[in-house]
Amino acid sequence: MRVTIPQLQERARTGEKLVMLTCYDASFAAISEEAGVDMLLVGDSMGNVIQGHDSTLPVTMGEMEYHVRCVARGAKRALVIGDMPFGSFQQSSEAAFHNAARLMSAGANMVKLEGGAFMAPTTAFLVERGIPVCAHIGLTPQSVHTLGGFRVQGKDDGAAERLVADAKALEAAGASIVLMEAMPAALAKRVTESLHVPTIGIGAGIDVSGQVLVNYDMLDIYPAKKARFVKNFMEGAPSVKAAIAAYVKAVKDKSFPGPEHSF
Ligand code: KIV
Repeated sequence: MRVTIPQLQERARTGEKLVMLTCYDASFAAISEEAGVDMLLVGDSMGNVIQGHDSTLPVTMGEMEYHVRCVARGAKRALVIGDMPFGSFQQSSEAAFHNAARLMSAGANMVKLEGGAFMAPTTAFLVERGIPVCAHIGLTPQSVHTLGGFRVQGKDDGAAERLVADAKALEAAGASIVLMEAMPAALAKRVTESLHVPTIGIGAGIDVSGQVLVNYDMLDIYPAKKARFVKNFMEGAPSVKAAIAAYVKAVKDKSFPGPEHSF
């Protein structure tokens, strides 16, 4: 039976940590869910870790659709989330619906959109038409050029208030999950406490509903310098599946992320 959004929301409500991991193909999908991962994010991080670009910006809808199809074939239980690539949703809600529907037809169970309160109308447009949305705030890599680099977000009071307002606006618009990237742990905790829907963190500390990592990072496959929030779970693990199981266990028993992975 496929993991459902109400199940994830109920588990988060009772304090059970949720586990998300990126995934780009059928074999990793099968191994990851056997290891206990709840949600597989077909992330546009594929631009970096699969395609060798230095950002996520070149990833196309066609490529995303192909990888969602691959992951959906391998995943029997985990919720599959398709990432909306740069340029596929920002122009209009209608364009976003058209492209999100392509990912849903390819096998996604939810789509993820980067952006704050300005994406609330598009989020509502998709949700009203039957497409569940995971919002993505904080460091939004598709905006790397306007942000001036891959930097921790929400460090000053004004920026922190804006992120809290973003999260509330996206929840009000119907987002099922709010993902927070590279934010001070105290701010992510505050956002989590101010929402009813689950939050997922990457570089957002321990006080969130669950965690996500890029699988090629936590398995030490991607050769570039690792962000502070990445832990190499392959170290000491006898197999890829055991490394992913160690990640699942560490998220659930709250031993990951530690302060050394947080801001
Ligand atoms: O594309 C991706 O892998 C992501 C995660 C870093 C959250 O958006």
